[in-house]
Amino acid sequence: MMNVSLNPAGDRVIILDQTRLPGREEYAELATAEDVYEAIFQLKVRGAPAIGICAAFGISALALGMPQGNYEDFCREFRRTKEYLASARPTAVNLKWALERMERVVKTHPSAAVSEICQKLKEEAQAIQQEDMQMCRRIAEYGLSLVKDGDGILTHCNAGPLATSRYGTALGPIFLGKERGVNFKVFADETRPLLQGARLTAYELQKGGVDVTLICDNMASMVMKNGWVQACFVGCDRVAANGDAANKIGTSGVAILANYYHIPFYVLGPSSTIDLDCATGADIPIELREPGEIKEKFYSQPVALPETKCYNPAFDVTDHSLITAIVTDQGIFREPYTESLKALRKET
Ligand code: MRU
Repeated sequence: MMNVSLNPAGDRVIILDQTRLPGREEYAELATAEDVYEAIFQLKVRGAPAIGICAAFGISALALGMPQGNYEDFCREFRRTKEYLASARPTAVNLKWALERMERVVKTHPSAAVSEICQKLKEEAQAIQQEDMQMCRRIAEYGLSLVKDGDGILTHCNAGPLATSRYGTALGPIFLGKERGVNFKVFADETRPLLQGARLTAYELQKGGVDVTLICDNMASMVMKNGWVQACFVGCDRVAANGDAANKIGTSGVAILANYYHIPFYVLGPSSTIDLDCATGADIPIELREPGEIKEKFYSQPVALPETKCYNPAFDVTDHSLITAIVTDQGIFREPYTESLKALRKET
């Protein structure tokens, strides 16, 4: 079963609840706009491409419950829902991008019956997921060309199949390599505070038969110094026109370490994650999350006083100067990114 799909009636989204992993593989049904919003906000479904796919399926399912008799009333409700879902998480541009793609379906069929528009919305959501699979496969091919059998690869957060549709982005070359008998030694940063590396990356790679070693985030430097890492592969939530890349908090630290140890640092992502409307990383909105994620969430008892002040940004921006290349479904892009990324064709 896919990690995000529609039920047979098309009026509910089914997701693999990532907050239950690795202990339990449980699926959740999302029936209302609040269910979809909360699933994205609480990271039941997470990873930039996956939240875009979830929102697309979500609005397609919700469209069936919107006013069916009149195009204008339908449009109004559609837009309201779209804006609500888009506000669930601000950094990953795929969320906004997927919802805008869905809205375009509505806008370009003003004289169609609403039932016909609903059918087209379902097809569009399915197309977004199918295209993501193809994009991930191409990213995997390009990424695989950058490494060789036996290499050590360090990754941060989770940019595997769970975060996309299939293969993943940063983990794509590793899974594709495995299919072809090319094996890597992967180091997965646990990824504080929400432990996507420990809970999801180590789980996915281990299930796929990949040699994976889990490390705490602060061990990356030593693993690099030991000579065990030949490349860093990370995903991205939004890449600006100058190549600055937002990804899970801690990524920029990995890039700085990689630079110090002369290890290539690759950012892998679909073209839907590149936002040429953001000139630099300073234009990328960074999500701030609850202090409880730092102080309590994964502990049997709180590790800090309730009144302790916390700063909990979900993402950071890696400066383009630290990125060896940006690997997309449309090829491998290198400095100067302001020039090279202009060649990207974006499905809009
Ligand atoms: O907060 P998350 O778990 O959604 O953060 C996810 C990441 O940072 C991923 O690396 C990114 O979305 C790319 S997923 C292919």
